[in-house]
Amino acid sequence: MLATALHYSHTLLKEVVEAGDTVVDATMGNGNDTLLLAQLVGENGKVYSFDVQASAVANTQARLAKENLLSQSELLLQGHETLAAVLPAETTIKACIFNLGYLPKSDKQIITLPATTKQALDAALTFLAPKGRVIIVAYYGHDGGAAELSMVEEYCQTLPQEAYSVLRYQFINQRNSPPILFCIEKKA
Ligand SMILES: C[S@@+](CC[C@H](N)C(=O)[O-])C[C@H]1O[C@@H](n2cnc3c(N)ncnc32)[C@H](O)[C@@H]1O
Repeated sequence: MLATALHYSHTLLKEVVEAGDTVVDATMGNGNDTLLLAQLVGENGKVYSFDVQASAVANTQARLAKENLLSQSELLLQGHETLAAVLPAETTIKACIFNLGYLPKSDKQIITLPATTKQALDAALTFLAPKGRVIIVAYYGHDGGAAELSMVEEYCQTLPQEAYSVLRYQFINQRNSPPILFCIEKKA
């Protein structure tokens, strides 16, 4: 069966993230991506995870504690637009994942926004290691979603091909705005 965007995002992470790596979850939510990343980097690696909702941080913290994955995880109650200020200057990251939109079953008014998402994308690319990946899963069916998708599309399409390979993955015959995945891979 063809992989959903969400499932495929995890495949793309598993292909590049190794034990000891530093990675970023730019939209922590309930911690699904943070959990996977913490497992992949192991106790010698580091996951920086961002969210603006205290409940997201608390839920993720509880999940990681249960799996004994807290030591390699830094959970930040702040926007991903602060990424450049949080990561030590010499850091290189192997991957960064964004799930854009709102957190299901939570406040639908709290959404990711084009300007701050762009700021975080710029920062993520600055820290990205050669062969590293920035993965964006864009949910865009909500108010404000189309504007953010359009920013992401333009951002990805205009990256120089000498420096990056960019993939777009989506189902094109599904109802209800299925998520679209973008993967930016930095060339070696
Ligand atoms: C689609 S959800 C993420 C789902 C998450 N990956 C998971 O596993 O549950 C989007 C998340 O982005 C968060 N968010 C909104 N603005 C943000 C910002 N500026 N920086 C970081 N997170 C933000 C929301 O609070 C929400 O939890």
